[in-house]
Amino acid sequence: MKKRIIFVTAVLIVCMAALFLGADGGRRDGQGAKKTSIRIGLLLYRGDDTFIGTLRSSIEECAKEYEQETGVKVTLDVMDAKGSQNTQNNQVERLISLGCDALCVNMVDRAAASAVIDKALAAGLPVVFFNREPVEEDMNRSDRLYYVGADAKESAVLQGELLVDAYKKNPGSLDLNGDGKVSYVLLEGETSHQDSLIRTEWSIQTLKDGGVPIEKITGGIANWERSQASALMEQWILEYPGQIELVICNNDDMALGAIDAMERNDVSPGSIRLVGIDGTPAGQEALKAGKLLGTVESDRELYARAIFEIAAALSEREAVEYEKYFWCPQRALAGGVR
Ligand code: BGC
Repeated sequence: MKKRIIFVTAVLIVCMAALFLGADGGRRDGQGAKKTSIRIGLLLYRGDDTFIGTLRSSIEECAKEYEQETGVKVTLDVMDAKGSQNTQNNQVERLISLGCDALCVNMVDRAAASAVIDKALAAGLPVVFFNREPVEEDMNRSDRLYYVGADAKESAVLQGELLVDAYKKNPGSLDLNGDGKVSYVLLEGETSHQDSLIRTEWSIQTLKDGGVPIEKITGGIANWERSQASALMEQWILEYPGQIELVICNNDDMALGAIDAMERNDVSPGSIRLVGIDGTPAGQEALKAGKLLGTVESDRELYARAIFEIAAALSEREAVEYEKYFWCPQRALAGGVR
């Protein structure tokens, strides 16, 4: 009788342990079995940034597809730091305490990545940084740190080349007043973002190398934002009436802001050319409508898939099929201008 009680108790304990493990998201059993659920934290520097918003939707799509294909349940915790690094650091702590298996981080201040890395490594979590690149020294602290982005020099050279092509085909398409030079203004992204400086430098260099006679009127920082770009452009339209022939923008949203200013000030679409970068849905609409001369699209599907697949593989403790740095392919989109 005593033996029987011991046996039944043992069976009960084993059953309860199995139930407990099941409730814990099917954690690995130590024999390499796959988890039945994973939890990934997605941290955004600003949820209202157009480009980041489109990436977020694509990442959410990837998570749904992954669930359908593998049967593994994915919980994606999305957090918006609203431009505050302090808030983002707290969000990292919160996500660690929620039991995330991996973090995908779009840093507010890319120079502050070491604090995020400290917290993640201490909790044994891998991190996939994206779009805002930490310095190499930080990235080299662990082989469980990855970066996904679009190469800034490549975007800029593609942007410059589409202008060189337009000029070579017909100089009058950029030198609108026929005075032998293309007078331009520049709209730049955040100064602290690796893309701003590199995009500006290589776009201009490509125009010079391509033999386009350019002359800078002025430039300003609009922090990637449509409304800030619109305010600057309005000021320039009034300050340099009839002189601006080209607006070179570090991203599409700022180009759209410049178009808003032109429309508000009755400057006809054909009288100033504009180029952007990103190929956002709104940017592509403007391209089709003939308001934008060109943009550079990064393959958002691949961009998002790389972020998600690296995070999922690390969560599952499976081999990652990507290098430490993944550079998303890009292509120039040139439109017929009105
Ligand atoms: C994109 C911008 C975006 C920024 C955010 C850049 O790579 O081109 O549109 O605002 O990243 O970090």
